[in-house]
Order: sequence, then C-alpha cells, then structure tokens
Amino acid sequence: MKQVGIESIGLYVPRYYVPLTDLARARGADPRKYTTGLGQELMGVPPPDEDVVTMGANAAHEALRDVDTDKIDTLMFATESGIDQSKAAAIYVHHLLGLPPRCKSFEIKQACCGSTAALQMALAFVAQKPDRKVLIIASDVARYGLVTAGEPTQGAGAMAFVVSAQPRILALDNEWGSYTEDVMDFWRPNYLDEAVVDGKYSIKVYIKALTESWKQYTEESGRTFADHEHYCYHLPFTRMAEKAHQHLAKINGGLSNPEQIKASLRYNRKIGNSYTASLYVGLASLLETSETDLTGHRIGMFSYGSGCMAAYFSGVVLPGYRDAVQPGRMREMLETRRALTIDEYEAFYLHELPRDGSRYLTEPHDTGRYRLAGVEAHKRLYEACAQAPQAAEPAHAVATG
Ligand code: COA
Repeated sequence: MKQVGIESIGLYVPRYYVPLTDLARARGADPRKYTTGLGQELMGVPPPDEDVVTMGANAAHEALRDVDTDKIDTLMFATESGIDQSKAAAIYVHHLLGLPPRCKSFEIKQACCGSTAALQMALAFVAQKPDRKVLIIASDVARYGLVTAGEPTQGAGAMAFVVSAQPRILALDNEWGSYTEDVMDFWRPNYLDEAVVDGKYSIKVYIKALTESWKQYTEESGRTFADHEHYCYHLPFTRMAEKAHQHLAKINGGLSNPEQIKASLRYNRKIGNSYTASLYVGLASLLETSETDLTGHRIGMFSYGSGCMAAYFSGVVLPGYRDAVQPGRMREMLETRRALTIDEYEAFYLHELPRDGSRYLTEPHDTGRYRLAGVEAHKRLYEACAQAPQAAEPAHAVATG
C-alpha cells in the first residue's frame, strides 16, 4: 500500500503565560513541586478574545502554508473544550480559512484522544482515495479551576496537521493498539466550564491503558521496545511521560532511556496541557528541537483520552522532514509571549461572555491572525485581525461597530 502520513504541521499557542514559580508562590506551594514534581515551567493562558476556534484557525493557517487548499477534502476538529453543543468548531474555521465548500467539516470528541480518532479516520479516508487530503485540528483550553490540584496542569494550544498520501514528515505504520474502558477519571458535565478530575486515579488508568494498547500494538506489528528510537506520550504534564516511559521500559524488561523522550517534552514544559493537541505538540517538539537527524527513525506514540479510550501507534520520520517543519516560528511564538501577573491570569480565567443574547464586543488583546470579536444574539463573532500580515478576507461573522 502507498505511504500515508503527515504532510505538514502547524502550531499555535496563546500570547500569554503564567510562570509556575509565581503560581506556586501565590498558592503557598513549593515551586519545585510544579517544576520538578510535575515537570512544568510555564502555563499558556488564552485571553478573553481567544478560544478553540481562533487557536485552531491560527494553527491550521500554518499547516496549510505549502498545501493547495482545494485538495483539502475533509476538516476534522478535535476538542474537548468546544464552544457549541451543536455547530462544529470546524465550520467556523472552514470559513475563516476560506476552504472549499466541498470540504466536509465536523467535530470529534473523546477527551484528549479525539485527535487520534480523527487521525485514524483520516488514514482510512486517504487510503481509500489517495488524491484527497485531510486537515486535522486539535485545539483545547485545559481548565481545572482556580486553587485546585489540577490548576498547575492547565494550559492551552492548538496543533493542525495535513494527512495525505504525499507525507513529507511522518509515514504512519498500519498497526494500531486500542483500549476502551468506562471510567470516571476526568469529565466535564455540560453545565460546567471546568473539568471534574480524579487526578491520581487518572494517572493509574493512563498507565493501564498504555499497557493494554501497547500489548495489542506489539502483537499486531511484531515490533519490540527496541524497534523505536523515540517515544511520544500524551502530555497532561511532562513528568507523566517520564513515568509512562519508565513503565513501558519496565514491562518490556528494559531500562528507560530519558533521551528517547527528552526533545518531545520541551514545548509542553512551556505551554502546559493542551488536551487533544498535547501528543502532537510533543511530536512537533521532537521533530523541531531534536539535535539529531531523525530521518528513518521510528517514533512510538501513545494517545490517552480520559473516560477512557487510548491508542498506541507509530510512524517513521521521512527524508527531508526538516524542510517541512518550522522550528523558527514556534521558537519566536514562545519567546514573544507576555507573562501575566496572578491577578491578570485570574481576571482572564474569570472572564465570561454574556449568556442572555446581548451584544458584547471583546476587548482586543494580543492574538494571532484570528480573534473572537464578541457575541450577539447568542452567535459568536470571529474576525481576521487587521494588523496580521496577509490578513484573510473578512470572516463570515465579523463584528462591526
Ligand atoms: N519538590 C519536588 N517534587 C515534589 C514536591 C517538592 N517540594 N512536592 C511534591 N512533589 C512531587 C510529588 O512527589 C509528585 O511526584 P510523584 O508522582 O512522582 O511522586 C508530584 O510532585 C505531584 O505531587 P502530588 O502530591 O501527587 O500532586 P497533587 O496531589 O497536587 O496532584 C495531579 C497532581 C497530577 C494529580 C493534579 O495536578 C491533577 O489532578 N492534574 C489534572 C489531571 C491530570 O493531569 N491527570 C493525568 C493523566 S490524564
């Protein structure tokens, strides 16, 4: 069968962050608990005029730089912090990016694993019709609540990637392992804006799902632990990947080599959890920051979505991948963000849009090319920012006045 895999990637992170040492001081915690115990340094925070749609559109804009958008046949938007119970975030992005009307667009949900479910579906779509391309967007705001144990594991970000039969970055292997079990480790009822989580239990289920999905993956592929040069894990916080990697090495009778995951953790340490995007942020981090030429290296990947569903799969890095990734863009995006004080962060966190249908325009903050301009008659209004270079045509629902 023809190779199918990832042709291009794009990342977007909010322009604001909180240093976790500041958060620790404000919460009366030892900063080393956050920086060493959880392995996090900075936590990305979206301003009131950003949401999963704007972050996703910004990431997709990057992923589509060298791609003919007329060839995009499907847009799948994975999120667990969606903005509407009915209309897909994908439709807003479809308009903001000017994708062709023939491109079907929908949303997928299964906690942090929704993006991987989308990837699996995209592989089947492309295998069936190799001239089509699928755009996957994974975009999330991780919200646990102020002054909770989950607070330092918040974050936000979006990752977009094009899946096609002309992969330039990663060729995906055909063998997959899956695991599903009905558990209550993390969930968000419709009436809450933040997740309910049994944190310690979620770590246990994560490890169990890793064991089980890896088992099926190795049975199907015949590959062993030694057959993968690098490993990427779902990253609620980077220490989780260290624990998971030690576990995987142990059950395979080997020793965990921290070098196999080191480069994949760099971006997450500075962004925090981005739910559906986090595994793929780790992949981008590995591809963009590794000092080694990864050509021909096999990467083992573990995706976990609470509730729970997990998947184990792998891919091989393609020759010329360095020309298809854009490390400079991400470095600049991370380095030009602004630190928030704890008061500013809490004000962003507590900001609410009106729920009574009244008209409200959001105050402009630093954003990417797209922003949430406001709401009116229960409709969200998005716009392309005038100051952004090569601003897109005005979006479907542009705020005026
Ligand atoms: N210096 C260094 N390390 C310290 C420390 C200090 N002063 N104080 C605590 N730590 C370590 C702990 O030993 C622990 O590490 P370990 O698990 O390797 O032993 C780590 O920091 C976290 O401490 P803990 O007491 O377990 O934190 P917590 O009870 O506040 O909660 C989570 C941690 C992850 C459970 C919580 O942040 C959470 O619920 N997050 C959201 C859910 C999540 O991310 N789940 C993951 C699977 S999807």
